[in-house]
Amino acid sequence: MTDEVGWHTRQLQAALRERGAVGRCVDLADCRIDTALSWHGLALPGFGRELPDAVLVRGIAGGSFEQVTKRLGVLHALRELGVPVYNDARAIERSVDKSMTSLLLHAARVPAPPTWATESPAEAQRIVTRESAAGHALVLKPLFGSQGKGLQRVGLVDGVHQPLSALEAGLAYLQRFIEPVTKPGFDWRVLVVGGRAVSAMRRISEHWIHNVAQGARCEAAALTPELASLAERASQALDMDYAGVDLMPSAHGAPIQVIEVNGVAAWQGLQRVSAFNIARAIVADLFERKLAACASARRA
Ligand SMILES: Nc1ncnc2c1ncn2[C@@H]1O[C@H](COP(=O)(O)OP(=O)(O)O)[C@@H](O)[C@H]1O
Ligand SMILES: [Mg+2]
Repeated sequence: MTDEVGWHTRQLQAALRERGAVGRCVDLADCRIDTALSWHGLALPGFGRELPDAVLVRGIAGGSFEQVTKRLGVLHALRELGVPVYNDARAIERSVDKSMTSLLLHAARVPAPPTWATESPAEAQRIVTRESAAGHALVLKPLFGSQGKGLQRVGLVDGVHQPLSALEAGLAYLQRFIEPVTKPGFDWRVLVVGGRAVSAMRRISEHWIHNVAQGARCEAAALTPELASLAERASQALDMDYAGVDLMPSAHGAPIQVIEVNGVAAWQGLQRVSAFNIARAIVADLFERKLAACASARRA
């Protein structure tokens, strides 16, 4: 499932071909519910009345609340119909909602910065004031944000007070800002496939936002036991088949912090600094673990 055909889909199709399988690109936006068509009621372009053997979710376009609900509904329905969905809709939902990610990381005792989500502007203001008084800046993030877009620092930023403006979405998702430990600062992206961390890179930028889409440069990074273990625990907390985990170093010997878990992670930047083919690793895990687990669940 992808809303974009390009490098990633070509990589996946090649990896599938190597295993004698055919990968077809389907946009969830083009999938329909049609109860007059077939017993299962799903209509996937190019599949007629049939269902795919497995679904790998690579991209979901943004849309209205109704559109996104239907798109995720199709993924839920596929799972209920016994089709293995690689990153199940439930896992994608948990990671797309950053506040749910924070809650689940907290429940799993994965080190992550203190985080708040509130619909009350007054409560948000109180959090900013309290954190400022304690010397902390906060990051105000869009709940469904990605690629480093729409992030804002508020509170005590470099010694200057940045006020919280009106909450556009009617919700404040606030996270304590992790001060950089180096100049320029960096974070890590670790890819977890089938529960195992497989590759890591550093994203380095003069800007405090370290996304590649915001101009950060990528460098290979050693997958240390600490990084691997944290990324794996984060991926497990959200029940991901594959996940791109963002982590940041913290000062004064504090543990590495998990910032975000991406359920529809891109890996083009990571591939450039990885010695093995990532699409092949993903497809191998889909075949050897996920398909096998679904087949044995069906037999039981
Ligand atoms: N709490 C934080 N402290 C410091 N930097 C942060 C924090 N949260 C996010 N950032 C920076 O902003 C980037 C984007 O934030 P992230 O939560 O990963 O959202 P996105 O979905 O946009 O990637 C991170 O990779 C990191 O560089
Ligand atoms: Mg991120």
